[in-house]
Amino acid sequence: MNKRPKNFALNFFWLLIFLPINPVELYSQSLPQNGIPFHSLDIALEHAEDKLNGTLLELNYNPTLHPSETSRETGKWDTSKLDRYEWTSGFFSGSLWYMYKITGDENWKEFAESWTEDLEDAATISYDHDTGFRIFNSFGNGYKLLKNRSYYSVLLRGANTLSNRYNPTIGAIKSWDWLDTANFPVIIDNLMNLELLFWTADTIENEELYNQALSHADLSLTHHMRDDGSTYHIVDFSDEGTVLKKFTTQGCNSTAPGCGDRSVWARGQAWAVYGFTMIYRFTNEDRFLQAAIKASDYFIENLPEDRVPIYDFLEPVPSVRSKDASASAIVASGLFELYSYTKNVLYFNTAVDILESLTSDNYSTINSDSNAILKKSTIHRGKGNVGTSYADYYYLEAIIRYMELVQSDFPNIEPEIKLYLDQNYPNPFNNSTLIYYSTEQEGRVELAIYDYTGRLVQTLVDRSLPSGNYNILFNSSGLPSGIYFYVLRSNKQTLSKKMTLLK
Ligand code: GLY
Repeated sequence: MNKRPKNFALNFFWLLIFLPINPVELYSQSLPQNGIPFHSLDIALEHAEDKLNGTLLELNYNPTLHPSETSRETGKWDTSKLDRYEWTSGFFSGSLWYMYKITGDENWKEFAESWTEDLEDAATISYDHDTGFRIFNSFGNGYKLLKNRSYYSVLLRGANTLSNRYNPTIGAIKSWDWLDTANFPVIIDNLMNLELLFWTADTIENEELYNQALSHADLSLTHHMRDDGSTYHIVDFSDEGTVLKKFTTQGCNSTAPGCGDRSVWARGQAWAVYGFTMIYRFTNEDRFLQAAIKASDYFIENLPEDRVPIYDFLEPVPSVRSKDASASAIVASGLFELYSYTKNVLYFNTAVDILESLTSDNYSTINSDSNAILKKSTIHRGKGNVGTSYADYYYLEAIIRYMELVQSDFPNIEPEIKLYLDQNYPNPFNNSTLIYYSTEQEGRVELAIYDYTGRLVQTLVDRSLPSGNYNILFNSSGLPSGIYFYVLRSNKQTLSKKMTLLK
């Protein structure tokens, strides 16, 4: 597969030859003031592309298999966790879209489409809140690049499924149906899936969806976050909306001395960093920005030197103190966005530090047979030292956000504008006829008439049009009887039909 078209290091080399200035100065021209460069960018991209290729091979190019976590014994993807029902099923297709975005290579697009389209039924899985993870990472990322109507309708279906889990008395989405020890559990992770609701609410201008997402975000802000910025994993509500208890099923629990309900599960904290930042993007409400800052400050202040936390910041038992690379990958991506709102370079530089650490031998699978991109994530207490498709996904997303912030180069991916062309009416015609056509989304469209020899007779349309259904009258006065063609074109598609002029 092609590497991304322009190699960062190579560009840099040529610039060094022609410009007699210090390389660090040159590099820093596109960095924030006092921002640090991500030196391992090219290594990271090459490694990620190799491992995504390795995963495709390991899956036998079968797009019904959606990797989630690697086996601790073999390092290979766990074959018991490959179906679309896993909460993780959207991450691998999301990573394929990200690789397409980075490289512009059509092969990645084709893989991304195959893995995404296998997930269509997941839009109606209704027993948990994870529709966003399954559908927004797959169809959502695809839609952002292609702007295609079929993905759009899957996203609307997904948003509807998630919205049906909203309870107006409690003011939140119920996260899980299956947890026996809770009545109405709301987990911190659930913030992430609000992105599907907020995005859909914005796109179709639906106030109800927006208000549901906003109410859930506010409830989570009130009850999940402690004064020091750390967060609970689960808050359980009564049917009337009072808090029954706060606890964790993934962090260190009451069986761990000194931990109990004070658990600060690192990935949960990461969801809070990313989630509240994303919610600020949609709401512009300062309370969410402040929550994101508090959650981030807690995470950063409690990070060890290698910028990757133990899976729970408070886990006291040495034998289960495993690292969680996924938490740092999520936070790196969230911090780049938080930097864009706050302009606090601490967030930018911490995210870069995390990326450097994750790209090093300590966390990257560069010298291993595993086809995950990163190693050393922890699923839950006692299940550490695995690769996960979500650590890989947020790592790639963080790299893309870094590249966007420093204006590193991306190939120019033009969205496909899907067109529809119907038979003209009347046909055959004498003098004038109507031509009907539709375009799925805004973009440049041309409609032209040609005679039987291929000579251009008349251009009827040549401009940017909003999505919609159109018709245009073609007047043939002055033309002889015969067969004509009308041709509709966008940047990627050409459609044509025949019509007969009988005088
Ligand atoms: N439920 C998502 C996670 O394990 O982080």
